[in-house]
Amino acid sequence: MEDLSPRPGDLETIETASRDEISAVQLKRMQWSLTHAYENSPFYRRHFDEAGSHPSDLRSLSDLAKFPFTTKKDLRDTYPFGMFAVPREKLARIHASSGTTGKPTVVGYTREDVDTWASVVARSIRASGGRAGDIVHVAYGYGLFTGGLGAHYGAEKLGCTVVPISGGMTERQVALMQDFKPRIIMVTPSYMLSILDEFRRQGVDPSESSLAVGIFGAEPWTNAMRQEIEHAFDMHAVDIYGLSEVMGPGVASECVETKDGLHVWEDHFYPEIVSPETGEVLPDGEIGELVFTTLTKQGLPIIRYRTRDLTRLLPGTARSMRRMEKITGRSDDMMILRGVNVFPTQIEEQILKCRGLAPHFQIELTRSGRMDDMTVHVECTLNSTDQGSRSGSAKELAHHIKSIVGVSTKIVVHNPGGVARSEGKAKRVVDNRPKE
Ligand code: DLL
Repeated sequence: MEDLSPRPGDLETIETASRDEISAVQLKRMQWSLTHAYENSPFYRRHFDEAGSHPSDLRSLSDLAKFPFTTKKDLRDTYPFGMFAVPREKLARIHASSGTTGKPTVVGYTREDVDTWASVVARSIRASGGRAGDIVHVAYGYGLFTGGLGAHYGAEKLGCTVVPISGGMTERQVALMQDFKPRIIMVTPSYMLSILDEFRRQGVDPSESSLAVGIFGAEPWTNAMRQEIEHAFDMHAVDIYGLSEVMGPGVASECVETKDGLHVWEDHFYPEIVSPETGEVLPDGEIGELVFTTLTKQGLPIIRYRTRDLTRLLPGTARSMRRMEKITGRSDDMMILRGVNVFPTQIEEQILKCRGLAPHFQIELTRSGRMDDMTVHVECTLNSTDQGSRSGSAKELAHHIKSIVGVSTKIVVHNPGGVARSEGKAKRVVDNRPKE
């Protein structure tokens, strides 16, 4: 794989600023953001007043803990436009997340917000090893989802040539990659696996493809999956994180030269880790729920947003801004089986250890009596389809999950193609337990 470390002059000044310089920028911007929210969004005025907090209370960054959290419910309750802090006609763009229950959450961006967003995505692509002039194949979905357009504007801002293919029509994705020869692909890691299968189906060696870097996010994925993809395509696989409520992709990104967690672009987004149970702020290094405050966003300032994503904050390495460890999962995706907490990423890690299994999987939850049961549906690889190999793989996976994760599971090994494929975010858990 190519050495893609940044060259002198590649980085913005803030990316190598001292901690004190970063904190000074953050404090000034945080004071602005709280005041902007309080003065221009009736929701935030009420929300702060009810909590007895006022923007003038913020004298240091740690004073942020005096302000109330914002949750997805707040966005739903003010549907569609009730949280905005600018008149509707100042919004240049709306995005929305479908949400599995209830109303979608709607977010809005001013022209300047769209530009800030493009800048942080451009910074993320550069951190991943992308440069002006690269061809970028964007296979995140375009539309109300922030992935496609977010990646698109960032790649254009960096000076790249964008192929806005969106998700789906996998056969054509591979054909166009052969013809256009992109250096970068931006896509969910689970859809990248479908693209990988399609390369093989067409008899094209993925390691011979033009791709040098994949920028993967929008769903949790493990370091084991990174190795799988890097090995198959002979390219770098780099993690990008974000969420619509805060901005979209580009809130945090790994650096290709270290791949040791995602640097939060702290000049625009202020991270905290809190205890999911009590909401108390936890020190850096401890695992908890990630909370974000936007520092520069105009259309929809977000103050202490509870992401439900679980991770921990670590000091900077390749850049001075703090890192967040790869996300373990969302608190909503945590399954509890006979008292043991289980995340889909833990199952993914174990599947990738089994040579006879392909990394496509889905977890089914059922209930027998008062106990919850977990079945892992997974596929065998093309050269391990015989009955003997399949039952061997099933036993091996059940053993790994039992000894490392600590739960007993039923394993069903399907033929290649037998597990539902994703064209965007994978649905890892199917809950077939009776509704209470
Ligand atoms: O998924 C934005 C995005 C698009 C990020 C493309 C990266 C690439 P939402 O649809 O609002 O926005 O979903 C946000 O997705 O709270 C996490 O649970 C999850 N997520 C996003 N990136 C990662 C990641 C986009 N790198 C929710 N690792 C977040 C783990 C991620 N989970």
